[in-house]
Amino acid sequence: MKTQAVTVPSITTRKKSGKKITALTAYDYNFAKLLDRTSIDILLVGDSLGMVSQGNANTLSVTLEDIVYHTRCVNKGVQRALVVADMPFMSYQVSVESAVTNAGILIQQGGAAAVKLEGGGRIISQVNAIIKAGIPVMGHVGLTPQSVHQFGGYKIQGKTFLDSKQIKQDAKDLQKAGVFALVLEGIPEELAAEITIDLEIPTIGIGAGSKCDGQILVTHDLLGLNPDFAPKFVKRYAYLSDVIQNSVKDFINEVQNETFPGSEHTYNLKQIALKQVNDDR
Ligand code: KIV
Repeated sequence: MKTQAVTVPSITTRKKSGKKITALTAYDYNFAKLLDRTSIDILLVGDSLGMVSQGNANTLSVTLEDIVYHTRCVNKGVQRALVVADMPFMSYQVSVESAVTNAGILIQQGGAAAVKLEGGGRIISQVNAIIKAGIPVMGHVGLTPQSVHQFGGYKIQGKTFLDSKQIKQDAKDLQKAGVFALVLEGIPEELAAEITIDLEIPTIGIGAGSKCDGQILVTHDLLGLNPDFAPKFVKRYAYLSDVIQNSVKDFINEVQNETFPGSEHTYNLKQIALKQVNDDR
């Protein structure tokens, strides 16, 4: 049985404790297992998988089936962290009814404990209905990547008085609707700090400064798996692209010069026979 030490209520009450919440993305079993063995609080099966794993220019072509598939894979590797599944583009915008149905699929078929939706006021009816169905919701405001075309690119949001007022209002509306935590993405640190102080639910920032109640990053960015992607808000804690490429170069060299496979990686009849004799004794 899976023991889920991190629960939705435990994330919400963490705000009072002052201990920062940590969250990362996960898309597959092996990464999920490795991350879960740390003390990471939340694993988000983000629609960022459209860019990170599928190589698309944005997240818009990710489907509900994609998220269900990846959430299932992640869930198999997780014993402790809270698994949150992203609701992809067009899985909640069309109607309240389809939003609840699709959120239910992510819980029932994917095995997520909660779902995340992008947007504020304009999706409040969907958020209300999903929560009413007993499904915990994480909010997401600011630079919401599913609105990339509306923003005209991945641009920092909340820079003008009116825009920041709207984001603050969206945050309050989402809290009122009952979201258990709120992702603040790509906004000035001053605005993120103000929202964090104003809200009773925790804020989790990405490109939103240090004053949020927690931080989330795309795991592949943190580990330096894509040498071509280094935005300002990402800190690379490792350069795994170098590690991977150097390891593969070593493999190629060793195959070419016939030092791999060595005897320790090879089965031969004499050893097999000897093992059989020993096993029979
Ligand atoms: O899709 C995603 O990975 C996200 C986070 C980066 C917040 O939404």
